[in-house]
Amino acid sequence: MKRGLSEVLAGNAYDPTRLVQILRGMMELEGYISPSVITEIAAALDLPRSAVEGVAGFYSFFETEPRGRYRVHFSDNITDELQGSVELRQRLLDAFHLELGEVSRDGRLSVKLTSCTGMCDQGPAMLVNGRPIARLTPARIGAICSLIRGGSPVDQWPENLFTVDTHLERADRLLSTPIPPGAAIDAALARGAAETLAVVRRSELRGRGGAGFGTGQKWTACAAAPGPDRYVVCNADEGEPGTFKDRVLLMHHADALIEGMTVAGLAIGARKGFIYLRAEYPFLKPTLEATLAARRAAGLLGKDIRGQRGFDFDVDLHMGAGAYVCGEETALLESLEGRRGIPRNRPPYPVTHGYLGRPTVVNNVETLIATAQIALFGDEWFRTLGTPRSAGTRVLSVSGDVARPGIYEYPFGVTVSQVLADAGAERTQAVQVSGPSGTLLARKEFGRRIAFEDVPSAGAFMVFDESRDMVRVVDNFARFFAHESCGFCTPCRVGTTLVKQMMGHLVAGQGSRRHLKDLARVSKVMKQTSQCGLGGTAGNPILDGLEKFEPAFYGRLPSLEVRPVFDLDASLAPAREATGRDDAGAHLDPERG
Ligand SMILES: Cc1cc2nc3c(=O)[nH]c(=O)nc-3n(C[C@H](O)[C@H](O)[C@H](O)COP(=O)(O)O)c2cc1C
Ligand code: SF4
Repeated sequence: MKRGLSEVLAGNAYDPTRLVQILRGMMELEGYISPSVITEIAAALDLPRSAVEGVAGFYSFFETEPRGRYRVHFSDNITDELQGSVELRQRLLDAFHLELGEVSRDGRLSVKLTSCTGMCDQGPAMLVNGRPIARLTPARIGAICSLIRGGSPVDQWPENLFTVDTHLERADRLLSTPIPPGAAIDAALARGAAETLAVVRRSELRGRGGAGFGTGQKWTACAAAPGPDRYVVCNADEGEPGTFKDRVLLMHHADALIEGMTVAGLAIGARKGFIYLRAEYPFLKPTLEATLAARRAAGLLGKDIRGQRGFDFDVDLHMGAGAYVCGEETALLESLEGRRGIPRNRPPYPVTHGYLGRPTVVNNVETLIATAQIALFGDEWFRTLGTPRSAGTRVLSVSGDVARPGIYEYPFGVTVSQVLADAGAERTQAVQVSGPSGTLLARKEFGRRIAFEDVPSAGAFMVFDESRDMVRVVDNFARFFAHESCGFCTPCRVGTTLVKQMMGHLVAGQGSRRHLKDLARVSKVMKQTSQCGLGGTAGNPILDGLEKFEPAFYGRLPSLEVRPVFDLDASLAPAREATGRDDAGAHLDPERG
């Protein structure tokens, strides 16, 4: 067996559900996953070779061919782009006479793009062998080039290169109310599981991961589902470009998070939990592991927690491997079970058929911290902040054209203009709330409020001033979705690629009115027919951009008479022929039916 592989397999108990962790282990050892390693892993885990190969090929941080000894992933996020990431990347490539995607001839360096590193408040950023380096400047790139030329191992590079800053700019209740370890668990134990569920329901806490589903309802449905085993999963995947608040919560509030997971375990009757941590945050692993160990030692995890006989609960840490779609809860569960992160058909929902087909609650980091506070201070306390339909506070990740990027916590209901003023934004033309999948707001909408009933937010708040080209911004989002689509369903796989191509034509000055029309049509089709939320939201920036920044889009057309280079409707003719349909509904443009 390949050197090191048996240790990696043993370290993961030869457990097929830990396949993603096993492949991560081999990436760390060898820098890529060779065909022979795939064969050996398949044999050792008693899996078909194709299953292991499929997983190795799915995640963008897994390589199945040799890459450079230094593997660089440059962030392609728009806020990094605004701060000069493209020029810095080119500087690195030029220094080694390399093209993007290539491996240098001496096998030393390879450079690729990654969608976002979660460092939007301190970009431009990149990852070297998985470790983030933020605040890139020409001088930092120069220093990195010297280290690579000198052959210095990455773990011997100066530690200050890898420092990740916190940038906490505004704390409200969630960030400023400490929970003494065990206090929320004690309060939940005193109330009992049923009353804890009732308190979380009465708090009207809604999930902070995006969809805003009622946490109390979710937990109650899970508790009521039949079956002996239940699970609590913390979604710490944080893949949405522009979002980095979970990074800060995990760094500074890990205890409260695990307290919240333990309260969830008590409330739904689970004995096991998982934290699914974004691959870009390996520097958080030691903090989380130390917190878990300290809590085990203090009797806050493990058997008979707080001396309560039969109350057993523990938490495993599971790292992702670079796939935005794995933030979608069913894709996340697939990944946790050691498979490719393809979203499942729903229903059934995870509350009845989740991890290993058992009832499971999946919650965002911020949601779970809020549940610990609710368990300790009660539902009324929680509801005193926010709006009638959005209780509590929202932690925002503010980035882009602002004087003070960072973390800002507000009670729900804060206006967009208030956040802009606090962050020192000037001459702002647009704000992208909730990342590319969210809402693009134009200046006349800055009086709107961050709340589920007005502008919902999964935490990202990206600011663009008047100097920015909004077509380029939307083009960046289009590339993001095309890169991250898992390819499982046709509307998203084909739609995101078409949108990326059409946006590319527009940016290159080869667009036409027809492109604009087709962009809107394809975006709507994706919204209506995609399997999961990725495809369902991939058209949002296009539709918002066309509606709110129409002059910028029309301004990119070289001539209003230019013919499109690709006729989408005509390209669907074979499909119409195969189905024997040629009516209006079978055309993208009903007038052509
Ligand atoms: C493409 C996609 C990516 C997502 N990424 C995340 C994520 O990174 N973190 C998260 O908490 N929720 C994410 N979600 C939402 C989850 O599917 C799920 O709704 C959430 O984890 C539930 O937790 P909550 O109820 O606490 O919000 C994503 C959804 C989609 C469709
Ligand atoms: S919508 Fe996109 S990401 Fe979701 S299942 Fe379909 S192809 Fe995959």
